[in-house]
Amino acid sequence: MRTDTGQLFRLEDYRPTDYLIPQTSLAFDLHPEKTIVRAVLSIERREGTDASQPLVLDGDDLKLVALSVNGVALGDNGYQATPERLEITQLPEEKRFTVEIVTEINPMTNRQLMGLYRSSGVYCTQCEAEGFRRITYFLDRPDVLSVYTVRIEASKAEAPVLLSNGNPVETGDLPGGRHFAVWDDPHPKPSYLFALVAGSLGHIADSFTTRSGRKVDLAIYVEHGKEPRALYAMDALKRSMKWDEDVFGREYDLDVFNVVAVSDFNMGAMENKGLNVFNDKYVLADAETATDADYAGIEAVIAHEYFHNWTGNRITCRDWFQLCLKEGLTVFRDHEFSADQRSRAVKRIAEVKTLKAHQFPEDAGPLAHPVRPRQYREINNFYTATVYEKGSEVVRMIRTILGPDLFRKGMDLYFERHDGDAATIEDFVRVFEEASGRDLSQFALWYEQAGTPNLSVSYDYDAAEKTFTIELEQSMKATPGQSRKKPMHIPVKFGLIGSDGKEIAPETTAGAEVIADVIHLRQRKETVRFTGITERPVPSLLRGFSAPVTLASELPRDDLMFLALNDSDPVGRWQALTKLLTGTLIAGVKRVRGGKMPVIDSDIVDLVGRITADETLDAAFRALCLTLPGESDIAREIGNNIDPDAVLASRDALIKAIAETHAGLFAALYDTLVNTGEFSPDAASAGRRALRNSLLDYLSVAEASPSRAAAQYRAADNMTDRAAALGVLVHRFGDSESAAEALAAFEKRFGGDPLVMDKWFIVQATRPGPKSLDTVQALMQHRLFSLDNPNRARALIGAFATANQTGFNRADGAAYRFFADAILKIDGENPQLAARLLTALRSWRSLEAGRREHARAALAQIAATEKLSTDVKDIVERTLG
Ligand code: PHE
Ligand code: ZN
Repeated sequence: MRTDTGQLFRLEDYRPTDYLIPQTSLAFDLHPEKTIVRAVLSIERREGTDASQPLVLDGDDLKLVALSVNGVALGDNGYQATPERLEITQLPEEKRFTVEIVTEINPMTNRQLMGLYRSSGVYCTQCEAEGFRRITYFLDRPDVLSVYTVRIEASKAEAPVLLSNGNPVETGDLPGGRHFAVWDDPHPKPSYLFALVAGSLGHIADSFTTRSGRKVDLAIYVEHGKEPRALYAMDALKRSMKWDEDVFGREYDLDVFNVVAVSDFNMGAMENKGLNVFNDKYVLADAETATDADYAGIEAVIAHEYFHNWTGNRITCRDWFQLCLKEGLTVFRDHEFSADQRSRAVKRIAEVKTLKAHQFPEDAGPLAHPVRPRQYREINNFYTATVYEKGSEVVRMIRTILGPDLFRKGMDLYFERHDGDAATIEDFVRVFEEASGRDLSQFALWYEQAGTPNLSVSYDYDAAEKTFTIELEQSMKATPGQSRKKPMHIPVKFGLIGSDGKEIAPETTAGAEVIADVIHLRQRKETVRFTGITERPVPSLLRGFSAPVTLASELPRDDLMFLALNDSDPVGRWQALTKLLTGTLIAGVKRVRGGKMPVIDSDIVDLVGRITADETLDAAFRALCLTLPGESDIAREIGNNIDPDAVLASRDALIKAIAETHAGLFAALYDTLVNTGEFSPDAASAGRRALRNSLLDYLSVAEASPSRAAAQYRAADNMTDRAAALGVLVHRFGDSESAAEALAAFEKRFGGDPLVMDKWFIVQATRPGPKSLDTVQALMQHRLFSLDNPNRARALIGAFATANQTGFNRADGAAYRFFADAILKIDGENPQLAARLLTALRSWRSLEAGRREHARAALAQIAATEKLSTDVKDIVERTLG
């Protein structure tokens, strides 16, 4: 593992390299414990650099076997090599020369899953961000683009499948039971997009013909026997390819496109050119083993990685500070794809929920950073919700500000101008300025300033003047390294609604700029005045969640009720309802902490019933409305001095009230929504299952019995319904016979399938209450558990720390101590995974004093440990602040 060197990388220090590597030829001789890599690099010295300038290449844990320049072996005084660095000082005078490097690596002992490693006996690579330097010495940075030819040699029995980037050019047999394959990728690419896979794998094949007539062979490689479970991913891939042509005019550019699913992977998936490598969680699905959420995840991630071919690969990032250039944009593209494949409104609400759950707390805590950070110690720690999700919101705002046509014009210009470039955020913003003639310099602050802006809004209606006035004030709290913030350009989509539920069109507007249905806020405080308004309207602000901000609006309760029932924008309806529910829940928390019972507001209980019963609404939308804000949502809204037990009590009290009031309605609806016919993962069917399963939870509470959930568990013919029933049994009736039976049945049925068993670990790790720590500790000893496998570690420890508020935040701090030990154990093997899990403690300062002190002590224990990885050290130090 790389231990901390204390080095800080800064955007302002960016400087192009003195040398370029226009061509790279790699030859791998694969053996589990001793793989030999021969790299032949054609080097080009940049204008203005002379031969006295050494060629300094990056390495990580490398062993140099041989080195030659222009075919001549270098003597000891011609270079200096360490595992981390190769400096060649004896260089020819010519502008172009060849360096040949032979390194030896050990895939078997590589447990950090960066570079070349083995996953279930399959050789695979992961190079983003800085993994290529664990394979050979290189200028391992995204602005060094090279054309790669790759020759792979391996045992034919062990690795009948040999894959790399680009197009296949040659294969053949060799003596000694070995064989080889040669791959050629004509598109210059940065080293982080290099990939190699070799092993014994099954596959499914298909093809796609691009709009200009190129026939592309598609294949998805999976563990033998799991081929049928890749069919949905293949379908999603073909839909993605078509969608990118239709919506962005982007066509695929190689003869083959391969996807490989592996079971040990740190992230979701990786967009290597022509050879995407996936966490198998985002490939494998069928009715028996995958939930509707799994299907949606597969569709989104398949699309995301495919879309990177243009936004990330053809146009890459100049440096890692620009990570959001590819990630934010590609998330935006996959969001739009899913919105087009499913219900747009439901998809948007799901995005808003994710953003608020993951990005808002990041922006409000010690790990806050701008969408484009200006400095980092460890780049692996910047694959964050801010870079990805807020990065996507920033692109969405550009489209909101410009409108769809100018946005597309800007994107076209981006592809045309920057194809083949390693680009920057400035390049990206400029194409939209040029396409639209607008000045986006203030808007660009969204990339620079960390933190979530808050909008305070007040309203005034003047009946005599027939004017309606909205006053908006933006503010942003200090974040690490940024104490004072400049006002931002915030696009606020809005509508004014009359008492008949219809939109009111004002005669004129004055004050802040209003274009169509968007108010453009630019100053700290702005007023918009609408004239010709003959009745007091109900304003709906931030429609479609047009900007990633919090809204403190002094809208009366009745208006929120009205919006929850009448806003023509479903996101607006959901926001109004959420505001009302959150208000009630927070009031309940206060009462619980004062030793009283929460007072339940019957208006709100009625409102939830009305929405649930409204057959004109999408089932998926009703399911979202019926799902109360989660415990961490409530905690986030409270902001400080959190007592998770009080939060849970308040939430459960509201659930109980809703459940008891509407038991009859819910039971009838539950019956009508029963699955008939064959399972289909389409959005409408998934929506009905979502609604039925949220009803199951309420009904089980109302009936105070596990029977209904146990019956559903037994009758289920698909994983969505089965997992939902198991969730109710374990979370609501965890000590019951029924829960124990269902858990045992699940283990018996799926014990051979690690991905499915992750659900079994998660459901137990997230059972509310202090007892869950014992369960988690016991499960660490389970035969199917292993800290080495990232999916398993996330299922047990990750789920416990992020999705079990009352269990993880036990008042006695025991869970924090357990967590710190686990993090340290994982750090020794897989620092990236350890660091990511550790971010679960980022909001420790908002806990009540007792828990806060326990959490601080656990963090301090980690910080005081010797030999921490750069990854964990960076997170723990920033978290402690
Ligand atoms: N670039 C990948 C994606 O978002 C994520 C990733 C980063 C995967 C680093 C592995 C390592 O699509
Ligand atoms: Zn990505």
